[in-house]
Amino acid sequence: MSGIALSAARLLLIIGGGVSAYKSLDLIRRLGERGATVRVIMTAAAKQFITPLSAAALSGDRVYDDLFSLTDEADMGHIELSRAADLVVVAPATADLIARMANGLANDLATTALLATDKKTLLAPAMNVRMWLHPATQRNVETLRGDGVLFTGPDEGEMACGEFGPGRMAEPLAIVAAIENALSASTRLALASGPASAMSARRDGPLDGAHIIVTSGPTHEPIDPVRYIANRSSGLQGHAIAQAAYEAGARVTLIRGPVGIPDPPGVDVVRVETAREMLAATQAALPADIFVGAAAVADWRVETQGAQKIKKDAQGAPSLALAENPDILAHVARLSPGRPRIVVGFAAETENLIENAREKLRRKGCDLIVANSVAEGSETFGGTDNRVWLVAARGETPWPQLSKREVARRLIDHLVKLLDNHI
Ligand code: PMT
Repeated sequence: MSGIALSAARLLLIIGGGVSAYKSLDLIRRLGERGATVRVIMTAAAKQFITPLSAAALSGDRVYDDLFSLTDEADMGHIELSRAADLVVVAPATADLIARMANGLANDLATTALLATDKKTLLAPAMNVRMWLHPATQRNVETLRGDGVLFTGPDEGEMACGEFGPGRMAEPLAIVAAIENALSASTRLALASGPASAMSARRDGPLDGAHIIVTSGPTHEPIDPVRYIANRSSGLQGHAIAQAAYEAGARVTLIRGPVGIPDPPGVDVVRVETAREMLAATQAALPADIFVGAAAVADWRVETQGAQKIKKDAQGAPSLALAENPDILAHVARLSPGRPRIVVGFAAETENLIENAREKLRRKGCDLIVANSVAEGSETFGGTDNRVWLVAARGETPWPQLSKREVARRLIDHLVKLLDNHI
């Protein structure tokens, strides 16, 4: 089946029980405005947040909520509900719904329809930041990604519970865009083929079947609720590597700090803020064949983060005690068992580029360092071009000034060759 226009699409929207369920009403409206037909299933928990009446009024159809309703089964059974749709969308996808999906449970109408569907499913997760970053949730997300389930969000920001971080449901218009994107390809699931082949069935390329984790962008280390330590990384280089790996056929997990550039299409994106969150997300995304640490991870964080905004007072400027952040690259390179076959780090230096890169190669235990200068005037941070040296145990190779996309493509070609030699 080729692409379907949103204006002609039949969508099954499953609303889970979360504070952001109210945004799903707006989503129904936005989809309706664009001509899509939306049929709604609500979980029992969803009905604690919004009423079926509101969803029915906006969708122009009745809302389904009961697995054992004889009248519903006569009208449209649970199998038919999921099969009649072009795409199944779950918004908000709570931690509980995600866990039940990942384990193939079918204990209410929503999960039964999800298990019975032969169409692609798009999830818009929404939950507390700790719940999202919990290894159990990340493991479930990874399982579902392996099954071919698509994700949009979660976004990062202030949460209803008062905490800050990734966990907010993507905004309705972003979900509409993700739906359009999902509809533009075949919406049918590669059911019998299992996770690995379901992924590789999508594309052919030298990295077909390989999993690559790329970190990108800066980390932000909070000082208090309004201030943070950051750096000038834009994410352009790391994102370009994720995109080039995807184009080479890999399954890509892009773990990105706060950046203002769009996520590359086709890759699984995990949004984080701090170095510690980046490490947790990396651990959750493993195992992988290749790890590329292109993120500019803050070496230090403030030892004790202020619970309230630090006030300017008569005692003068506050002093901030710093604590060292975990070294993600060194951690991944020293994993045993579970070390990716190739571990690549970057070195961003303002002086003694090759010497410092070589020292990092040794100290962090990686296979390759991509060295680039971030000295004043280099425009490496935030610029579209980069001039790099590949530093390995055997020696270093200078590359000419190239666009970051070209650096990414050449790096992926180089990694393909290394991988071939390793096997
Ligand atoms: O994002 P752009 O604007 O496109 O800019 C690209 C870039 C300059 C950020 C990129 O090319 C780059 O050099 N990234 C690494 C920046 C950096 O933090 O370098 P470093 O020399 O401080 O760290 C060395 C390596 O250790 C890096 O792979 C880094 O990801 C990793 N590291 C560092 C500290 C830490 N706590 N954990 C880590 O994993």
